[in-house]
Amino acid sequence: MKQSVKLVAGNWKMNGLGASLAEAETLEKALKEQAAACRVALCPPATLIERMARALAGGAVEIGGQDCHAASSGAYTGSVSAEMIREAGAGLVILGHSERRAGFGETDADVAAKVEAALAAGLEPIICIGETLQEREAGQAVPVVSRQVAGSLPASLAGKPFAVAYEPVWAIGTGLTPTLDQIEEVHAAVRAAMVARLGEGGRAAPILYGGSVKPSNAAEILAVPEVGGALVGGASLKADDFLGIIRAA
Ligand code: PGA
Repeated sequence: MKQSVKLVAGNWKMNGLGASLAEAETLEKALKEQAAACRVALCPPATLIERMARALAGGAVEIGGQDCHAASSGAYTGSVSAEMIREAGAGLVILGHSERRAGFGETDADVAAKVEAALAAGLEPIICIGETLQEREAGQAVPVVSRQVAGSLPASLAGKPFAVAYEPVWAIGTGLTPTLDQIEEVHAAVRAAMVARLGEGGRAAPILYGGSVKPSNAAEILAVPEVGGALVGGASLKADDFLGIIRAA
């Protein structure tokens, strides 16, 4: 089967002040000298999107947000809309990250509404799913992610550019990763759930793996069938580490 180009996206989470743009510039410079074999994106805090977009204008690194509100505007103090981050310079947006699901009570329906908002603003959503350790130990990883796919992906995604990111909650920021067989099993199940939800429109979008991806394990993870890229937290903060992952793709 033809493999589409992989996407390696960095999620800076709530890290980064103006000085951190130097890391993004170092990354861009390295990719100018030697082009990546994959798409590369950085998702900084909302406060840095516009400055990063200016600093990297016309370059290889794409820019994304980490969340957006489902409404296009209104009385939602503290929130940013999809259109706002699009205008600031983002082309992608991470939605439904487990830190949003666990820490802010986001449900699959909330995530699906945000995906609709992102599509309406012309953003490419990266929709995150993944089981907790308790669910994994109860043998529920596949049913949990299948349910999350069914609930978090609106039908309107068919034919649009988007990605799904499988991030086991217990692997995020812990240094733990599933075995390659476990990753393969879940990615195959996620693909089946995407096709069940979207028909043929569920076949093309890449399924990223996320959770403790680092330069030393990136090559073997990215070689697993149906792993279409990586969503990287901690190791995306330093250009050298992130480059190590990008070069493995
Ligand atoms: P991590 O985070 O790479 O630091 O484990 C991944 C993520 O939360 O997207």
